[in-house]
Amino acid sequence: MNPQGAVALVTGGATRVGRVIVSVLAAEGVTVAIHYRGSAEEAKSAAAEISAAGGTAAIFQADLTIQEELDALISAVTDRFGPPNILVNSASIYRQVSMDETDRAEWDVNMALHAWAPFRLAQLMVRQLDGSPGKIINLNDAHLARPRRFAYGVSKATLSAVTRSLAGAVGPNVQVNELALGAILPPPDWSEERIQKLTADIPARRWGSPDDVARAIIALIRSDYINAETIHIDGGVTGTRK
Ligand SMILES: NC(=O)c1ccc[n+]([C@@H]2O[C@H](COP(=O)([O-])OP(=O)(O)OC[C@H]3O[C@@H](n4cnc5c(N)ncnc54)[C@H](OP(=O)(O)O)[C@@H]3O)[C@@H](O)[C@H]2O)c1
Repeated sequence: MNPQGAVALVTGGATRVGRVIVSVLAAEGVTVAIHYRGSAEEAKSAAAEISAAGGTAAIFQADLTIQEELDALISAVTDRFGPPNILVNSASIYRQVSMDETDRAEWDVNMALHAWAPFRLAQLMVRQLDGSPGKIINLNDAHLARPRRFAYGVSKATLSAVTRSLAGAVGPNVQVNELALGAILPPPDWSEERIQKLTADIPARRWGSPDDVARAIIALIRSDYINAETIHIDGGVTGTRK
C-alpha cells in the first residue's frame, strides 16, 4: 500500500511512542486520526504540529475499555476522513501488579485494552473495508512472560494470538502484523540506574527509539505480502536467546 493518501487510526497517538508514529505517518502523506484518552492537550498539539507541517490530522477521544466509546471510534474517524485503511493499536497500560495481587478488575482492564480493543477496532475497520486493502499493526512487547506484571503479560500474549488469528481471517487484501518492542522508552518513573542496568543486557548496548518503531510501521504499510508476523524491535534481545 502506498502510504500517500491512506487514512490511519493510531490509538494512544498523543504521547510517547504513539506521538512519534503519528508524526512519521503524516510526513509520509498519511491522513492521521490521533486517538487519545486523557492527553487532550498533547493530542491537540500533535495535530497542530502535523497541520503546520502541511499534513492532515484530527483528534478523537475514547476510553477503549468502555464498549460504547470503543465502538464509536471507527465511525467517528470515517465521518471525518472516510474509512480508515490503516490501524495501529498502540494504547496500553503498564502496571506492576504481581500474580498474587492480580484480581478480576486488573485482569479485565488489561484484556480489554490489549486484546479486545485491538480486535474490535480491527473487526469494525475490516467490515467497512469490505475487501479493500488494509493494514493492521499491533504494538506488542518482546517479553510476554511477566511474573511482576502478570495481567499485562497474559493480555499481550493474547494480542499475539489475536494478530495471527486475524491475519488468517480478514481476507487476502488485509495484512495483520505485530511489532514486539524491547527497550524503546522507559516509563517516566524509571531511575537512570535501572535504565543502564537493562542496557547491559541488550546486544545493541543501547535503547531503541520510537523512530525505529515508526520506520517499521512504514515498511509494513508498504509491504502487501508480510502477514501474521512478529517483528522484534529489541536490539537483538529475543533473537540471541532463541
Ligand atoms: N515504551 C516501550 O519501551 C515499550 C516496550 C514494549 C512494548 N511497548 C508497547 O508499545 C506501545 C506504545 O508504548 P508507550 O510506552 O508509548 O505506551 P504508554 O505510554 O504506556 O501508553 C500509550 C497511551 O495509551 C493510552 N491509554 C491508556 N489507557 C487507555 C484506555 N483505557 N483507553 C484508551 N487509551 C488508553 C494513553 O492515552 P492518554 O495519555 O491519552 O490517556 C497513553 O498515552 C504499547 O502498546 C506498549 O505496550 C512499549
